[in-house]
Amino acid sequence: MRSIGILLPLLLSLGTTASLAEDDPEHGRQLYATCAACHGAQAEGNRSLNAPRLSHLAPVYVVAQLQKFKAGARGGSSASESARQMAAIAGTVADDQAMYDIAAYIATIGGGASAKTLAGDQEEGARYYQQFCAACHGPAAQGNLALNSPRLAGADDWYIVAQLEAFRSGARGTDAQDRTGKQMRVMAGVLPDDDAVTAVATYIRSLAE
Ligand code: HEC
Ligand code: HEC
Repeated sequence: MRSIGILLPLLLSLGTTASLAEDDPEHGRQLYATCAACHGAQAEGNRSLNAPRLSHLAPVYVVAQLQKFKAGARGGSSASESARQMAAIAGTVADDQAMYDIAAYIATIGGGASAKTLAGDQEEGARYYQQFCAACHGPAAQGNLALNSPRLAGADDWYIVAQLEAFRSGARGTDAQDRTGKQMRVMAGVLPDDDAVTAVATYIRSLAE
């Protein structure tokens, strides 16, 4: 422990050349100004722009999604207009370092969950969730990074519905490069109908309390 305490600041002061430098949330804060226009100053989301809350997401997931948008694995020609819009923005983020810095900044902004917008059958949703979703997203929807599965607790309920519908229709998770999206697309397909989608999203939203 002691040697790490001495070495880390030394390494940082030397700077890194080949690999990524340490995340810089202050630099991320400056870059986030562009994002705030849609996602809000507190990364709380803005429903009227279809821009989701981001503050509940782990940095590694934020980076993974930005990389996908930038590479066209998400937000390509078959995607929704919202996703294509986000892909265009991701194309303007300079490089992976900038993505890590922005994600590190987002992780510093906390906040409560957004307002409920759904009134699906929560008990039915709980049954679907525990049967089909908990194995990857965790029993409390806390996410499981080892399975690339994001936190869902705290996400906007309308966004959960929009993304489940996107996976179900093939607007998300069909690109050949999108391995993790494909996994999720299979799971979105096990929900029988729109009522089940609403129910499961209503239940997930209740977990943020
Ligand atoms: C013009 C509005 C707009 C701007 C500016 C914008 N976004 Fe987005 N972003 C969106 C929309 C809309 C979505 C939802 C896309 C979808 O429905 O698939 C989104 C989705 C995302 C997602 C995926 C979240 C998830 O849980 O799936 C991330 C991460 C993200 N944006 C990060 C950023 C960052 C970082 C910036 C700044 C560099 C940024 N956005 C700027 C509109 C915007
Ligand atoms: C086999 C593991 C697995 C199971 C089971 C699973 N998911 Fe997922 N889910 C994922 C992965 C991996 C992602 C990330 C996809 C990506 O990287 O684009 C994801 C993404 C999502 C997203 C998008 C979140 C965001 O912010 O972008 C939602 C919503 C979601 N899952 C809901 C569900 C629901 C509801 C169920 C149950 C019906 C479920 N998932 C079952 C693995 C799983």
